[in-house]
Amino acid sequence: MNFDELIDRRGTNSNKWDDMEAKFGVSAEDGLAMWVADTDFRAPDCIQNALRKWTERAIYGYQGNDAAYRRAVVWWMQNRHGWDVHPDWIFSVHGLVNGTGMCIDAFTKPGDGVILFTPVYHAFARVIRASERDLIECPLVQQDGQYRMDFEAYEAQMKGHERMIILCSPHNPSGRIWSREELEELAEFARRHDMIIVSDEIHHDITFPGAQHTVMAKLGDISDRLVTMTSSTKTFNIAGAHTGQVIIGDPDLRARFAARYQALGISPNAPGILMTTAAFSPEGAAWVDKLVTYLDGNRQIFEAGMNAIPGVSAMHIQSTYLAWINFEDTGMESREVISRIEKGARIAASHGASFGAGGETFMRFNLGTRRAVVEEAVTRLQSAFSDLQ
Ligand SMILES: Cc1ncc(COP(=O)(O)O)c(C=O)c1O
Repeated sequence: MNFDELIDRRGTNSNKWDDMEAKFGVSAEDGLAMWVADTDFRAPDCIQNALRKWTERAIYGYQGNDAAYRRAVVWWMQNRHGWDVHPDWIFSVHGLVNGTGMCIDAFTKPGDGVILFTPVYHAFARVIRASERDLIECPLVQQDGQYRMDFEAYEAQMKGHERMIILCSPHNPSGRIWSREELEELAEFARRHDMIIVSDEIHHDITFPGAQHTVMAKLGDISDRLVTMTSSTKTFNIAGAHTGQVIIGDPDLRARFAARYQALGISPNAPGILMTTAAFSPEGAAWVDKLVTYLDGNRQIFEAGMNAIPGVSAMHIQSTYLAWINFEDTGMESREVISRIEKGARIAASHGASFGAGGETFMRFNLGTRRAVVEEAVTRLQSAFSDLQ
């Protein structure tokens, strides 16, 4: 594998590269795509070989037994996360945005409150609103350059109709890994208000040295109100496969989810199952270890480069390839910041406000790209804000 290999994604119907001009006014001719969360890396050989075998046969009929896929998920969770999953707990969904919608549908009703700790991955809010549930934004607070949860404040916000918490763990956009103590406090909060926790752990494979992710399901007696969502797609850059796992240990919650799964006519998609089975393997694991080392280099260069600009600060990411950069102390309006980034630096990055309350002064940069692109982005951004030096 060579993460430095230049792979031109332009003209391939790539959302990240081919839609950035329409969305941000940044042309792919000279612009850098650092927004939507996929990477510019080729998927590992284990996935490619599995796909090659499939396409060589050119038979794309209905799939039967998915035992190998379930075994692969169980193996991955055991070996990479020390979590024992039973094969029957796994539902394959069409990505975790779909999984989020399914959970909302299965476990809440219109008008119920669904809590997000904001700022957070924007699709959650979109799905909650579209499902006609009441979106409750519980703001994260900044402490020592990191986000923390503030349960005292959240208690005061509760109205009694809250039924679900959607947790992003590790956290997108800040790369924060929640500590075991924080997760325990969260579990306690959910218990007090009789809420279900949906823990989206899509980013849990990419954790940097010194940080230890805790799978929520490994906490003691939380399983009666917990749903975990995982996926191979962020890690292995196969998001187009639109596949993910909803894992439910509790029999009652599982039956409720299974009923909605059945009612909506959902069944796994063949390429997603094939790619995930190939990815969640020893070969896939070895590739991920190398990927994490490479991304660790990217984050160090980018964070140092951003922190060198007066008034700009990078939240130190413990996980994900998404850098969360605060421009608040530049004193500029966010319109001015965005204009300097898009028109000046020619970079398409995600606007902080799209992640909900508290994100307004931030921009999110996707570092899942070649080192040379990260270095170029640092140079361009330092130049776009050079009057602050
Ligand atoms: C926390 C989180 N959940 C879900 C998704 C999207 O998942 P999917 O492509 O499986 O729908 C993303 C994508 O960035 C994400 O960051």
